[in-house]
Amino acid sequence: MEFVDTERGRFAIRREGSGPTALFLHGFPLDATMWLDQITGLEGLGERIAMDLRGNGHSEPTHHDIADIDMHADDVVAVIEALGVLKVDLVGFSMGGYVALSIAQRYPERLRSLALIDSKADADSDAAKINRTNAAVRATLQGREALAQEMIEALLSPSASLLAKARLRTMVEACSFETIVASQAGMAKRPARTKTVAGLDVPFLAVVGEHDGVTPPELSIAMADAAPNGMSVVIPGAGHMTPIEKPRAVNDILRDWLKKVR
Ligand code: MLT
Repeated sequence: MEFVDTERGRFAIRREGSGPTALFLHGFPLDATMWLDQITGLEGLGERIAMDLRGNGHSEPTHHDIADIDMHADDVVAVIEALGVLKVDLVGFSMGGYVALSIAQRYPERLRSLALIDSKADADSDAAKINRTNAAVRATLQGREALAQEMIEALLSPSASLLAKARLRTMVEACSFETIVASQAGMAKRPARTKTVAGLDVPFLAVVGEHDGVTPPELSIAMADAAPNGMSVVIPGAGHMTPIEKPRAVNDILRDWLKKVR
């Protein structure tokens, strides 16, 4: 792990390899270690960097009551610039995909390609916003163990390995309560970015687990269909957490993708 100092604060990254950069953005309430299988498994495909978003992992703690998705996007671009990288192949998982779409809309010049894994471009419904508030209250009052248990049951397919369950629990239980609360508020507030997808001028990939209940396959496929140069892949037998649940399948897809877009 190393640190990148920017005018927006200090951010932790994990990186391997050299050459064209693929940048990986994690989901809620996770950190860069969710990408360990991709960072090591995509050897020979340029530089792979996974970043801890503000408030997560070892990056700058958050002191905001709302961890705005655009704030994360500004942080990510500050890191890209501090590293002296011109363009990246951006890979965003779930909440990281919301951040990636903010970058696609607000900093399109930074992208060579965009891949969203188990993510979506739609905004939250009113019911989803209420669920987020309730989930933040439950986590704060009942603890991260309860949240981790809920997430293992809701986000992984029944056939997920013990290791996948262990990794999810480790990340969730390491996340600060402040970040859990602020991230839920930030995700609830995000706008729909379906027009951003329809206006993309870089190649676009949407990957999703067959049984993903958070960002269902139909939304993922619809995004790829709407993008001018989009393709979608559904991973059979997987839930929401495909990068840790089916790392080989995700790596095979990303290997072909990165070769194609460079
Ligand atoms: C995530 O996996 O990042 C979150 O579950 C996404 C969300 O809650 O919308």
